[in-house]
Amino acid sequence: MNLRIVGIGGSVDPGSQSGAALRSVLAAAQRLGASTTVFTGPDIAFPPYFTGAQLPPAARDLIESVRRADGVVIASPGYHGTISGVVKNALDYLEELRDDARPYLDGRAVGLVAVARGWQATVDTLVTLRQVTHALRGWPTPYGVTINSSMTHFDDDLTEDDGARDSLELVAAQVVSFARKMGTGSDDGR
Ligand SMILES: Cc1cc2nc3c(=O)[nH]c(=O)nc-3n(C[C@H](O)[C@H](O)[C@H](O)COP(=O)(O)O)c2cc1C
Repeated sequence: MNLRIVGIGGSVDPGSQSGAALRSVLAAAQRLGASTTVFTGPDIAFPPYFTGAQLPPAARDLIESVRRADGVVIASPGYHGTISGVVKNALDYLEELRDDARPYLDGRAVGLVAVARGWQATVDTLVTLRQVTHALRGWPTPYGVTINSSMTHFDDDLTEDDGARDSLELVAAQVVSFARKMGTGSDDGR
């Protein structure tokens, strides 16, 4: 079964740690046999979404990829105690999926990763990501990842922090295993 996992998140900052953590989950999903696509950095710095907004081409790509996805991974930096505006705005564009047979993130496992410089913001950001995922009818995986970027550092998508690596691999495994159980993956060109 060909599973498609889409990653959304990170920040526009060079060396974005939440972007690195996101790519790390997707790399683990690939090792488990999934195909992955990532939307991160400047590629998700869309103009503010509103009903009837003109959709930038990159936003159209995001919407189409999520429409076909079997699983999703969302990673956000913690900004002032919650998810960043850029990540939330990118998720707001999924409003375009409201009339789909599988609206928004319906039927899809969603792995969540929160990265901030303090534990309080990592946890609050993870909780917010779960709330947004529920609002979008997605299924947050049982395990969610919190990474404290004052203690854990990524170069590209690699870190020497074994605990962080294990957590990111676990969330990848949960997304892939849920997507397999839901049986939505196929080669039919959806
Ligand atoms: C505008 C802004 C607000 C932030 N607010 C918080 C915060 O409330 N708590 C916290 O622990 N870290 C905060 N941080 C630090 C980031 O969460 C941290 O640097 C994180 O690693 C950034 O992820 P990135 O490297 O993907 O940009 C803030 C950073 C920025 C730029």
